[in-house]
Amino acid sequence: MSATSFSTAAGGLAIDGVPVADIAAGIGTPCYLYSAAAIRDAYTRLDSAFGDYPHAVHYALKANSTLEIVRLLKGLGSSVDANSIGEVDIALRCGFHPGQIMFTGVGKSAGELARAISLGLKAINVESPGELDRLDRLALDQRSVARVALRVNPDIDARSHPHISTGLKTNKFGVPIEAAPEIFREIQRRTGLEAVGVHSHIGSQITTLEPLLRAASAAVDLAVALLAEGVPLRHVDFGGGVGIAYDGKSAIDPAEYGRAILDTVRPTGLTALLEPGRVLVGPAGTLLTRIVDVKQFAGARQFIVLDAGMTELMRPALYGAFHRIEPVRVREGAPIVADIVGPVCESTDTFARDRELAPVEVGDLIVVRDVGAYGAVMGSTYLRRPLPPEILIDGGAWRVIRRRQTLDDMLRLEE
Ligand code: LLP
Repeated sequence: MSATSFSTAAGGLAIDGVPVADIAAGIGTPCYLYSAAAIRDAYTRLDSAFGDYPHAVHYALKANSTLEIVRLLKGLGSSVDANSIGEVDIALRCGFHPGQIMFTGVGKSAGELARAISLGLKAINVESPGELDRLDRLALDQRSVARVALRVNPDIDARSHPHISTGLKTNKFGVPIEAAPEIFREIQRRTGLEAVGVHSHIGSQITTLEPLLRAASAAVDLAVALLAEGVPLRHVDFGGGVGIAYDGKSAIDPAEYGRAILDTVRPTGLTALLEPGRVLVGPAGTLLTRIVDVKQFAGARQFIVLDAGMTELMRPALYGAFHRIEPVRVREGAPIVADIVGPVCESTDTFARDRELAPVEVGDLIVVRDVGAYGAVMGSTYLRRPLPPEILIDGGAWRVIRRRQTLDDMLRLEE
């Protein structure tokens, strides 16, 4: 369900029927593999929950903006949420029209706001009264009107990792929901602004429906009150945040989430907007890596050193995030317990501590699962390590959608 299909073939693990050892032989490691089928399945489950009700799925580009992934989602009917002008440009290059692009971000520069106005994006999700004021002036300079949605902060605990929670008063995001009605009245008085929506996003990797639905109800209640005051809203934007099962156990079903949001918004008749990232692409991605060293001394822990580390996948180093790690070909023998680490000269470059896995040897291929979201996009070239290639597996075949970076690619900026 919404996941990459892993099976065991003669040469070891296969993804959607393609043996990953073949890909390693063809392209080398480390590399990112994406299952097109898993993305299609997740998108369809979420989108179809809304049936005929007016809605749009604005895929959060920040999760993974590799062009071919974005084009795949466009082909499914998705719109996008961009968090920088760079992401707006990615969307335009993939063929989205401005009316399909939402622009979000806690610190948009004057240049970014001016460009967003001139493009006539669907809406700009505004984070503060100061930003509204700047936007109004920039719009008037262009003799234009900026469509705005106000990001409200409902002070709801998403019960996710504190680094990726955004819906509490103590977080830097949005305006307190109690302050919103007065701010909407101010928007109504400004000739450079048009209020089109209420926006809320309380965090990411949220694993229970309850906080998501509480935030959704708060946004809907506000929208209803604003409509009653005569604010001509068009939509409620429920943000992203639906978590995935990194441990392979249970997570929110995107279809169930979609139905619950629909129940909340339906009485208003307003268009429902969603900004999912992780739930659409996270389970579709796998990092394929090879063991470069195994070391163990008497009485000390065993280390398995991979050719991928925090430069390819930051999540474990940054959030202590858990990812399943499995050998491509399972060897016979008693399981071992080891630290699985990267090659980077930082102790935080550790994918897992005290992890149990089947016995392994230098040269074995290993997969790190559920890395389709916030994986490749958060990579770096620290130690002059080249960004890894990305491969799309589709219809039983695989192809490179981003080639491995070379040192010359990297140095082009320094010439
Ligand atoms: N909308 C807004 C306004 C956001 O800030 C985000 C994510 C999303 C939508 C998409 O959220 P999702 O559906 O993917 O949960 N790097 C972290 C996650 C940061 C999320 C940032 N905002 C990680 O690796 O877990």
